[in-house]
Amino acid sequence: MIGDKKVLFSGMQATGSLTLGNYLGALKNWISLSDEYECFYSVVDLHSITIRQDPATLRKRARDLLTLYIAAGLDPEKNCIYYQSHVSGHTELAWILNCFTYMGELNRMTQFKDKAAKHSDNINAGLYTYPVLMAADILLYQADVVPVGNDQLQHLEITRDIAQRFNSIYGDVFTVPEPYVGKVGARIMSLQDPSKKMSKSDDNPNASIYLMDDADTVMRKFKRAVTDSEGCVAYRRQQPGIYNLIDIYCACTGKTPEETVREFDGKGYGEFKLAVGESVVDVLRPLQEKFAELSKDRAYIDGIIKKNGEKASYYALKTLRKVQKKVGFPEKIR
Ligand code: TRP
Repeated sequence: MIGDKKVLFSGMQATGSLTLGNYLGALKNWISLSDEYECFYSVVDLHSITIRQDPATLRKRARDLLTLYIAAGLDPEKNCIYYQSHVSGHTELAWILNCFTYMGELNRMTQFKDKAAKHSDNINAGLYTYPVLMAADILLYQADVVPVGNDQLQHLEITRDIAQRFNSIYGDVFTVPEPYVGKVGARIMSLQDPSKKMSKSDDNPNASIYLMDDADTVMRKFKRAVTDSEGCVAYRRQQPGIYNLIDIYCACTGKTPEETVREFDGKGYGEFKLAVGESVVDVLRPLQEKFAELSKDRAYIDGIIKKNGEKASYYALKTLRKVQKKVGFPEKIR
């Protein structure tokens, strides 16, 4: 708890550009969470270097991501949006937690196996202990809830195991986090294969709408979106492509699937796709304008980075001191 609020922590990697799926499925719904939770959103650049990165690109993407979060409506006065690498407590706690995590547990992590297969020329120790750093992120802020996608649930599970193990040895040190189960956003699927989630790491650029896509690109991608041969705009699982387009349209316009089906009754897919594309363009335009405006204001963004980095460090240090004391490190003479 911070004050009378529970703590929410989430981290995002600055690898790849955010998609419409990230926005409608997560980000958009996070905006109101700061009323209920003390929210920390970290740009997890320490995690990013488990895969080889070009330094200039990493730096730019990390800043863009941070700016985009603000552009999307997360108020940086109410949400602590900061760089993980600016708070040394993450790595310090990660080392300690490494000593409380078994290799057997890490060997079971499916994401490690996937990434190791994909990057077989660079299976480094950081990639292996990635979940421990993630546990450190979460436990450092005594987070109560963590909004994560399915792909990260196993990492949250190991975080809970590590926290419970530590607590059982040293007493109540860490809050044991729960996955955040609040209002969930729309689950947006790939435009090219509606059985797959829209992903920022999809190899096919036509499969995803990126938040920075211009209007022409958005319209072109929707025109090419995979549908079916039914020829009727209906909200049925048997028509996954159209189902997904209806979900997108509803998330962008606030209409219900029933209203949408009525609106396009008797109309062709071409017309429907055009309308979906336009609804997306209408959502992205203000976001892109805000992003461009914020990006120009270097001093403002720098100020946020500094202030929120300090805020995060303050809470991180509180936990870290407690942990260091528990494991038996001598107190520093100040
Ligand atoms: N591993 C997460 C991902 O790739 C990012 C992340 C790092 C994270 N630390 C976190 C998410 C802590 C939630 C909480 O999506």
